[in-house]
Amino acid sequence: MVDDLNPAPRLLMGPGPINADPRVLRAMSAQLLGQFDPQFRGYMREVSELYRGVFQTKNRRTLLVDGTARAAIEAALASLIEPGDRVLVPIFGRFGHLKAEIARRCGGEVVALEREWGSVFAEEELEKAVRQHKPRLVAVSHGDTSTTMAQPLAELGSICRAHDALLYVDATATLGGMDLPVDAWNLDVVSAGLQKCLGGPSGSAPLTLNERAEKRIARRRHTEQGLRTKDEPQGDGPIIRSNYFDLAMIMDYWSESALNHHTEATSMLYAARECARILLQEGLAKSFARHALASKALTAGLSAMGLGLFGDQKYKMPNVTGVYVPEGVNADRVRRAMLEHFNIEIGTSFGPLHGRIWRIGTMGYNARQDAVLTTLAALEAVLSQEKHKVPRGAAVDAALSVCR
Ligand SMILES: Cc1ncc(COP(=O)(O)O)c(C=O)c1O
Repeated sequence: MVDDLNPAPRLLMGPGPINADPRVLRAMSAQLLGQFDPQFRGYMREVSELYRGVFQTKNRRTLLVDGTARAAIEAALASLIEPGDRVLVPIFGRFGHLKAEIARRCGGEVVALEREWGSVFAEEELEKAVRQHKPRLVAVSHGDTSTTMAQPLAELGSICRAHDALLYVDATATLGGMDLPVDAWNLDVVSAGLQKCLGGPSGSAPLTLNERAEKRIARRRHTEQGLRTKDEPQGDGPIIRSNYFDLAMIMDYWSESALNHHTEATSMLYAARECARILLQEGLAKSFARHALASKALTAGLSAMGLGLFGDQKYKMPNVTGVYVPEGVNADRVRRAMLEHFNIEIGTSFGPLHGRIWRIGTMGYNARQDAVLTTLAALEAVLSQEKHKVPRGAAVDAALSVCR
Protein backbone atom coordinates (compact mmCIF):
# COMPACT_ATOMS: atom_id res chain seq x y z
CA MET A 1 0.00 0.00 0.00
CA VAL A 2 1.01 3.60 -0.47
CA ASP A 3 0.22 6.32 2.06
CA ASP A 4 -2.76 8.60 1.72
CA LEU A 5 -2.21 11.59 -0.55
CA ASN A 6 -0.97 14.35 1.71
CA PRO A 7 1.06 16.99 -0.16
CA ALA A 8 3.19 19.31 1.98
CA PRO A 9 1.63 22.74 2.57
CA ARG A 10 3.99 24.51 0.16
CA LEU A 11 3.83 28.14 -0.76
CA LEU A 12 4.47 28.05 -4.52
CA MET A 13 6.38 31.23 -5.38
CA GLY A 14 7.96 30.04 -8.61
CA PRO A 15 7.03 30.96 -12.18
CA GLY A 16 4.01 28.62 -12.10
CA PRO A 17 2.29 26.52 -11.04
CA ILE A 18 1.21 28.54 -8.03
CA ASN A 19 -1.18 27.57 -5.25
CA ALA A 20 -4.69 27.28 -6.61
CA ASP A 21 -7.38 29.47 -5.12
CA PRO A 22 -9.24 27.21 -2.62
CA ARG A 23 -12.50 28.10 -4.37
CA VAL A 24 -11.12 26.56 -7.57
CA LEU A 25 -10.19 23.36 -5.73
CA ARG A 26 -13.70 23.24 -4.28
CA ALA A 27 -15.25 23.68 -7.73
CA MET A 28 -13.14 20.77 -9.00
CA SER A 29 -14.57 18.42 -6.39
CA ALA A 30 -18.12 18.87 -7.75
CA GLN A 31 -19.76 15.73 -9.18
CA LEU A 32 -19.32 14.94 -12.89
CA LEU A 33 -21.95 15.46 -15.57
CA GLY A 34 -22.26 13.91 -19.00
CA GLN A 35 -20.82 16.09 -21.73
CA PHE A 36 -24.18 16.43 -23.50
CA ASP A 37 -26.19 17.02 -20.34
CA PRO A 38 -28.07 20.31 -20.87
CA GLN A 39 -26.68 21.59 -17.56
CA PHE A 40 -23.13 20.84 -18.67
CA ARG A 41 -23.67 22.47 -22.08
CA GLY A 42 -24.92 25.46 -20.09
CA TYR A 43 -21.65 25.48 -18.14
CA MET A 44 -19.73 25.38 -21.42
CA ARG A 45 -21.66 28.41 -22.67
CA GLU A 46 -20.91 30.18 -19.38
CA VAL A 47 -17.22 29.37 -19.74
CA SER A 48 -17.19 30.92 -23.23
CA GLU A 49 -18.90 34.02 -21.94
CA LEU A 50 -16.66 34.34 -18.87
CA TYR A 51 -13.50 34.01 -20.98
CA ARG A 52 -14.79 36.63 -23.41
CA GLY A 53 -14.60 38.89 -20.37
CA VAL A 54 -11.13 37.69 -19.39
CA PHE A 55 -9.77 38.04 -22.96
CA GLN A 56 -11.65 41.35 -23.44
CA THR A 57 -13.16 40.12 -26.69
CA LYS A 58 -16.44 39.58 -28.47
CA ASN A 59 -15.06 36.50 -30.25
CA ARG A 60 -17.79 33.91 -30.65
CA ARG A 61 -15.12 31.20 -30.64
CA THR A 62 -13.84 31.34 -27.08
CA LEU A 63 -13.33 27.91 -25.59
CA LEU A 64 -11.07 25.56 -23.66
CA VAL A 65 -8.52 23.20 -25.14
CA ASP A 66 -8.10 20.21 -22.82
CA GLY A 67 -4.47 19.95 -21.76
CA THR A 68 -1.84 22.27 -20.35
CA ALA A 69 -1.09 25.65 -21.94
CA ARG A 70 1.11 23.95 -24.50
CA ALA A 71 -1.94 22.06 -25.78
CA ALA A 72 -3.57 25.32 -26.85
CA ILE A 73 -0.33 26.53 -28.43
CA GLU A 74 -0.17 23.31 -30.40
CA ALA A 75 -3.87 23.47 -31.33
CA ALA A 76 -3.48 27.05 -32.57
CA LEU A 77 -0.35 26.36 -34.59
CA ALA A 78 -1.44 22.97 -35.97
CA SER A 79 -4.74 24.48 -37.10
CA LEU A 80 -3.37 27.74 -38.50
CA ILE A 81 -0.19 26.58 -40.22
CA GLU A 82 -0.51 24.83 -43.55
CA PRO A 83 2.60 22.97 -44.69
CA GLY A 84 4.92 25.42 -46.43
CA ASP A 85 3.46 28.52 -44.72
CA ARG A 86 6.00 31.09 -43.67
CA VAL A 87 5.79 31.69 -39.90
CA LEU A 88 7.60 34.53 -38.16
CA VAL A 89 8.56 33.74 -34.56
CA PRO A 90 10.10 36.50 -32.44
CA ILE A 91 12.11 34.71 -29.74
CA PHE A 92 13.09 36.42 -26.48
CA GLY A 93 13.13 33.34 -24.24
CA ARG A 94 12.50 29.63 -24.00
CA PHE A 95 8.85 29.79 -25.00
CA GLY A 96 9.65 31.55 -28.27
CA HIS A 97 11.86 28.56 -29.11
CA LEU A 98 8.95 26.29 -28.20
CA LYS A 99 6.65 28.03 -30.69
CA ALA A 100 9.31 27.86 -33.41
CA GLU A 101 9.73 24.15 -32.77
CA ILE A 102 5.99 23.43 -32.86
CA ALA A 103 5.61 25.55 -36.01
CA ARG A 104 8.33 23.48 -37.71
CA ARG A 105 6.62 20.25 -36.67
CA CYS A 106 3.46 21.60 -38.33
CA GLY A 107 5.37 21.98 -41.59
CA GLY A 108 5.82 25.74 -41.30
CA GLU A 109 8.79 27.49 -42.86
CA VAL A 110 9.97 29.28 -39.74
CA VAL A 111 11.74 32.62 -39.74
CA ALA A 112 13.11 33.00 -36.21
CA LEU A 113 14.11 36.42 -34.89
CA GLU A 114 16.16 36.24 -31.71
CA ARG A 115 16.77 38.77 -28.96
CA GLU A 116 19.12 38.45 -26.03
CA TRP A 117 17.32 37.02 -22.97
CA GLY A 118 16.28 39.84 -20.67
CA SER A 119 15.22 42.16 -23.48
CA VAL A 120 12.25 42.40 -25.87
CA PHE A 121 11.65 43.58 -29.45
CA ALA A 122 10.80 47.13 -30.45
CA GLU A 123 7.53 46.96 -32.37
CA GLU A 124 9.19 48.78 -35.31
CA GLU A 125 11.67 45.92 -35.51
CA LEU A 126 8.79 43.47 -35.78
CA GLU A 127 7.08 45.61 -38.39
CA LYS A 128 10.25 45.59 -40.49
CA ALA A 129 10.46 41.80 -40.22
CA VAL A 130 6.79 41.35 -41.18
CA ARG A 131 7.30 43.62 -44.20
CA GLN A 132 10.48 41.79 -45.22
CA HIS A 133 9.41 38.17 -44.70
CA LYS A 134 5.67 38.43 -45.50
CA PRO A 135 4.67 35.61 -43.12
CA ARG A 136 1.19 34.08 -43.15
CA LEU A 137 1.41 33.84 -39.37
CA VAL A 138 3.31 35.60 -36.59
CA ALA A 139 3.54 33.59 -33.34
CA VAL A 140 4.79 35.38 -30.25
CA SER A 141 4.76 35.16 -26.44
CA HIS A 142 3.22 38.01 -24.50
CA GLY A 143 5.19 37.24 -21.36
CA ASP A 144 8.01 34.70 -21.29
CA THR A 145 8.43 33.25 -17.81
CA SER A 146 11.93 32.00 -18.66
CA THR A 147 13.22 35.58 -18.85
CA THR A 148 10.42 37.40 -16.93
CA MET A 149 10.04 39.85 -19.85
CA ALA A 150 6.78 40.98 -21.49
CA GLN A 151 6.71 41.90 -25.17
CA PRO A 152 4.76 45.11 -25.97
CA LEU A 153 1.97 44.09 -28.34
CA ALA A 154 -0.37 47.05 -28.72
CA GLU A 155 0.61 47.66 -32.36
CA LEU A 156 1.63 44.24 -33.67
CA GLY A 157 -1.92 43.11 -34.46
CA SER A 158 -2.53 46.11 -36.72
CA ILE A 159 0.87 45.62 -38.35
CA CYS A 160 0.01 41.99 -39.12
CA ARG A 161 -3.41 42.98 -40.44
CA ALA A 162 -1.87 45.55 -42.78
CA HIS A 163 0.36 42.80 -44.22
CA ASP A 164 -2.26 40.09 -44.37
CA ALA A 165 -0.67 37.93 -41.66
CA LEU A 166 -2.47 36.38 -38.71
CA LEU A 167 -1.14 36.98 -35.20
CA TYR A 168 -1.08 34.26 -32.55
CA VAL A 169 -0.21 35.30 -28.98
CA ASP A 170 0.80 32.92 -26.19
CA ALA A 171 -0.56 34.66 -23.08
CA THR A 172 -0.02 31.67 -20.78
CA ALA A 173 2.06 33.69 -18.36
CA THR A 174 0.14 36.95 -18.37
CA LEU A 175 -3.60 36.41 -18.83
CA GLY A 176 -5.36 37.89 -15.81
CA GLY A 177 -2.19 39.56 -14.48
CA MET A 178 -1.45 42.03 -17.27
CA ASP A 179 -3.68 43.95 -19.61
CA LEU A 180 -4.19 42.15 -22.94
CA PRO A 181 -7.26 43.58 -24.68
CA VAL A 182 -7.63 41.06 -27.50
CA ASP A 183 -10.08 43.02 -29.66
CA ALA A 184 -8.61 46.48 -29.08
CA TRP A 185 -5.14 45.18 -30.04
CA ASN A 186 -6.37 43.18 -33.06
CA LEU A 187 -4.97 39.88 -31.79
CA ASP A 188 -6.31 37.05 -33.95
CA VAL A 189 -5.72 34.03 -31.72
CA VAL A 190 -4.72 34.09 -28.05
CA SER A 191 -4.33 31.22 -25.60
CA ALA A 192 -3.33 30.68 -21.99
CA GLY A 193 -3.26 28.18 -19.12
CA LEU A 194 -4.78 28.27 -15.66
CA GLN A 195 -1.72 27.76 -13.47
CA LYS A 196 -0.34 31.28 -13.47
CA CYS A 197 -2.30 34.53 -13.01
CA LEU A 198 -5.65 32.71 -13.25
CA GLY A 199 -5.00 30.89 -9.96
CA GLY A 200 -5.91 27.35 -11.01
CA PRO A 201 -4.15 24.05 -11.67
CA SER A 202 -2.57 23.30 -15.03
CA GLY A 203 -4.59 21.11 -17.37
CA SER A 204 -7.01 23.41 -19.18
CA ALA A 205 -6.08 26.00 -21.78
CA PRO A 206 -8.47 28.87 -22.60
CA LEU A 207 -8.28 30.02 -26.22
CA THR A 208 -10.03 32.68 -28.25
CA LEU A 209 -9.99 33.29 -31.99
CA ASN A 210 -11.61 35.85 -34.24
CA GLU A 211 -13.34 35.54 -37.59
CA ARG A 212 -10.15 36.07 -39.61
CA ALA A 213 -8.60 33.03 -37.94
CA GLU A 214 -11.84 31.09 -38.12
CA LYS A 215 -11.99 31.64 -41.87
CA ARG A 216 -8.50 30.24 -42.34
CA ILE A 217 -9.33 27.19 -40.20
CA ALA A 218 -12.73 26.58 -41.85
CA ARG A 219 -10.93 25.85 -45.14
CA ARG A 220 -9.41 22.85 -43.38
CA ARG A 221 -12.58 21.47 -41.82
CA HIS A 222 -12.62 17.71 -42.24
CA THR A 223 -15.14 16.17 -39.88
CA GLU A 224 -14.33 12.67 -38.64
CA GLN A 225 -15.84 10.01 -40.90
CA GLY A 226 -17.86 8.35 -38.17
CA LEU A 227 -19.65 11.60 -37.34
CA ARG A 228 -20.02 13.22 -40.72
CA THR A 229 -23.49 13.63 -42.17
CA LYS A 230 -24.13 14.08 -45.90
CA ASP A 231 -24.80 17.80 -45.61
CA GLU A 232 -21.85 18.56 -43.29
CA PRO A 233 -19.85 21.17 -45.29
CA GLN A 234 -16.18 20.21 -45.65
CA GLY A 235 -13.23 22.47 -46.43
CA ASP A 236 -11.07 22.16 -49.50
CA GLY A 237 -7.81 23.05 -47.68
CA PRO A 238 -5.24 20.55 -46.38
CA ILE A 239 -6.41 18.47 -43.42
CA ILE A 240 -5.16 19.58 -39.99
CA ARG A 241 -2.48 17.05 -39.12
CA SER A 242 -3.58 16.51 -35.54
CA ASN A 243 -6.96 15.09 -34.61
CA TYR A 244 -6.88 16.02 -30.92
CA PHE A 245 -5.74 19.59 -31.64
CA ASP A 246 -7.98 20.17 -34.68
CA LEU A 247 -9.58 23.51 -33.83
CA ALA A 248 -12.17 23.07 -36.59
CA MET A 249 -13.50 20.00 -34.76
CA ILE A 250 -13.04 21.56 -31.31
CA MET A 251 -15.06 24.58 -32.46
CA ASP A 252 -17.81 22.24 -33.70
CA TYR A 253 -17.78 20.50 -30.34
CA TRP A 254 -18.20 23.82 -28.49
CA SER A 255 -20.87 25.09 -30.90
CA GLU A 256 -24.62 24.61 -30.61
CA SER A 257 -24.37 21.55 -32.88
CA ALA A 258 -22.18 19.92 -30.17
CA LEU A 259 -20.56 17.60 -32.70
CA ASN A 260 -18.73 14.96 -30.70
CA HIS A 261 -14.95 15.15 -30.45
CA HIS A 262 -13.13 14.37 -27.16
CA THR A 263 -14.80 13.80 -23.79
CA GLU A 264 -14.64 17.19 -22.16
CA ALA A 265 -12.42 17.23 -19.04
CA THR A 266 -15.32 18.02 -16.75
CA SER A 267 -13.44 18.82 -13.53
CA MET A 268 -10.99 21.03 -15.43
CA LEU A 269 -13.90 22.89 -17.00
CA TYR A 270 -15.29 23.50 -13.51
CA ALA A 271 -11.84 24.79 -12.52
CA ALA A 272 -11.54 27.07 -15.55
CA ARG A 273 -15.03 28.42 -14.94
CA GLU A 274 -14.23 29.21 -11.30
CA CYS A 275 -10.88 30.86 -12.20
CA ALA A 276 -12.61 33.22 -14.62
CA ARG A 277 -15.55 33.84 -12.30
CA ILE A 278 -13.22 34.83 -9.42
CA LEU A 279 -11.12 37.05 -11.68
CA LEU A 280 -14.09 38.90 -13.15
CA GLN A 281 -15.67 39.24 -9.72
CA GLU A 282 -12.48 40.98 -8.54
CA GLY A 283 -12.34 43.00 -11.77
CA LEU A 284 -9.56 42.91 -14.37
CA ALA A 285 -8.16 46.31 -13.45
CA LYS A 286 -7.96 45.38 -9.77
CA SER A 287 -6.27 42.10 -10.57
CA PHE A 288 -3.66 43.87 -12.76
CA ALA A 289 -3.06 46.41 -9.96
CA ARG A 290 -2.73 43.62 -7.36
CA HIS A 291 -0.10 41.87 -9.49
CA ALA A 292 1.77 45.15 -10.06
CA LEU A 293 1.78 45.94 -6.33
CA ALA A 294 3.02 42.47 -5.36
CA SER A 295 5.82 42.78 -7.90
CA LYS A 296 6.75 46.26 -6.65
CA ALA A 297 6.89 45.02 -3.05
CA LEU A 298 8.96 41.98 -4.00
CA THR A 299 11.47 43.92 -6.08
CA ALA A 300 11.79 46.59 -3.35
CA GLY A 301 12.54 43.83 -0.85
CA LEU A 302 15.08 42.07 -3.07
CA SER A 303 16.85 45.36 -3.80
CA ALA A 304 16.92 46.23 -0.09
CA MET A 305 18.65 42.88 0.45
CA GLY A 306 21.30 44.02 -2.02
CA LEU A 307 20.30 41.56 -4.76
CA GLY A 308 20.36 42.54 -8.44
CA LEU A 309 17.27 42.26 -10.63
CA PHE A 310 17.56 40.50 -13.99
CA GLY A 311 16.63 42.02 -17.33
CA ASP A 312 15.31 45.32 -18.63
CA GLN A 313 13.06 46.37 -15.76
CA LYS A 314 10.95 48.51 -18.09
CA TYR A 315 9.62 45.33 -19.67
CA LYS A 316 9.51 43.04 -16.66
CA MET A 317 6.25 41.13 -16.18
CA PRO A 318 4.56 42.09 -12.91
CA ASN A 319 4.01 38.46 -12.00
CA VAL A 320 7.53 37.00 -12.22
CA THR A 321 10.81 38.51 -11.10
CA GLY A 322 14.28 37.33 -12.07
CA VAL A 323 16.88 37.94 -9.38
CA TYR A 324 20.63 37.30 -9.63
CA VAL A 325 22.15 34.63 -7.43
CA PRO A 326 24.89 36.47 -5.47
CA GLU A 327 28.56 35.56 -6.07
CA GLY A 328 29.63 32.51 -4.11
CA VAL A 329 26.07 31.35 -3.35
CA ASN A 330 24.85 27.99 -4.63
CA ALA A 331 21.48 28.61 -6.33
CA ASP A 332 20.15 25.07 -5.90
CA ARG A 333 21.15 24.80 -2.22
CA VAL A 334 19.23 27.98 -1.46
CA ARG A 335 16.15 26.68 -3.26
CA ARG A 336 16.41 23.41 -1.39
CA ALA A 337 16.73 25.17 1.99
CA MET A 338 13.73 27.40 1.18
CA LEU A 339 11.71 24.28 0.52
CA GLU A 340 13.00 22.20 3.45
CA HIS A 341 12.92 24.85 6.15
CA PHE A 342 10.11 27.15 5.00
CA ASN A 343 7.99 25.06 2.63
CA ILE A 344 8.48 27.75 0.00
CA GLU A 345 9.23 26.98 -3.63
CA ILE A 346 11.05 29.53 -5.77
CA GLY A 347 12.01 28.92 -9.38
CA THR A 348 15.23 27.81 -10.96
CA SER A 349 16.01 28.98 -14.51
CA PHE A 350 16.67 27.48 -17.91
CA GLY A 351 19.32 27.52 -20.61
CA PRO A 352 21.78 30.44 -20.45
CA LEU A 353 20.30 31.63 -17.14
CA HIS A 354 20.58 28.34 -15.25
CA GLY A 355 22.31 28.84 -11.90
CA ARG A 356 22.55 32.60 -12.51
CA ILE A 357 19.06 33.74 -11.55
CA TRP A 358 16.15 32.60 -9.42
CA ARG A 359 12.65 33.35 -10.63
CA ILE A 360 10.11 34.37 -8.03
CA GLY A 361 6.44 34.48 -8.94
CA THR A 362 3.83 36.77 -7.46
CA MET A 363 0.80 35.67 -9.36
CA GLY A 364 -2.80 34.64 -9.22
CA TYR A 365 -3.79 33.55 -5.73
CA ASN A 366 -0.24 34.23 -4.49
CA ALA A 367 -0.03 37.86 -5.63
CA ARG A 368 -0.56 38.84 -2.01
CA GLN A 369 1.32 40.91 0.54
CA ASP A 370 1.68 38.08 3.08
CA ALA A 371 3.08 35.69 0.44
CA VAL A 372 5.67 38.29 -0.62
CA LEU A 373 6.70 39.14 2.95
CA THR A 374 7.04 35.50 3.97
CA THR A 375 9.16 34.71 0.90
CA LEU A 376 11.47 37.67 1.50
CA ALA A 377 11.91 36.81 5.19
CA ALA A 378 12.72 33.20 4.32
CA LEU A 379 15.17 34.12 1.57
CA GLU A 380 16.96 36.51 3.90
CA ALA A 381 17.29 33.83 6.57
CA VAL A 382 18.52 31.21 4.10
CA LEU A 383 21.07 33.56 2.53
CA SER A 384 22.39 34.38 6.01
CA GLN A 385 22.71 30.68 6.79
CA GLU A 386 24.66 30.35 3.54
CA LYS A 387 27.06 32.99 4.94
CA HIS A 388 25.97 35.64 2.48
CA LYS A 389 25.76 38.96 4.30
CA VAL A 390 22.34 40.65 4.07
CA PRO A 391 21.03 43.61 6.07
CA ARG A 392 18.61 41.87 8.47
CA GLY A 393 15.03 43.03 8.30
CA ALA A 394 15.60 45.46 5.43
CA ALA A 395 13.77 43.42 2.79
CA VAL A 396 10.54 43.01 4.71
CA ASP A 397 10.63 46.66 5.81
CA ALA A 398 11.09 47.83 2.20
CA ALA A 399 8.29 45.59 0.92
CA LEU A 400 5.96 46.68 3.70
CA SER A 401 6.56 50.32 2.94
CA VAL A 402 5.48 49.68 -0.67
CA CYS A 403 2.29 47.96 0.47
CA ARG A 404 1.27 50.65 2.97
C1 LIG B 1 4.84 31.67 -21.95
C2 LIG B 1 4.60 30.24 -21.69
N1 LIG B 1 4.12 29.47 -22.67
C3 LIG B 1 3.88 28.17 -22.50
C4 LIG B 1 4.12 27.54 -21.30
C5 LIG B 1 3.87 26.06 -21.19
O1 LIG B 1 2.80 25.81 -20.41
P1 LIG B 1 2.38 24.33 -19.93
O2 LIG B 1 3.51 23.85 -19.10
O3 LIG B 1 1.13 24.57 -19.14
O4 LIG B 1 2.13 23.51 -21.12
C6 LIG B 1 4.61 28.30 -20.23
C7 LIG B 1 4.89 27.67 -18.93
O5 LIG B 1 5.60 28.17 -18.09
C8 LIG B 1 4.85 29.69 -20.43
O6 LIG B 1 5.32 30.46 -19.46
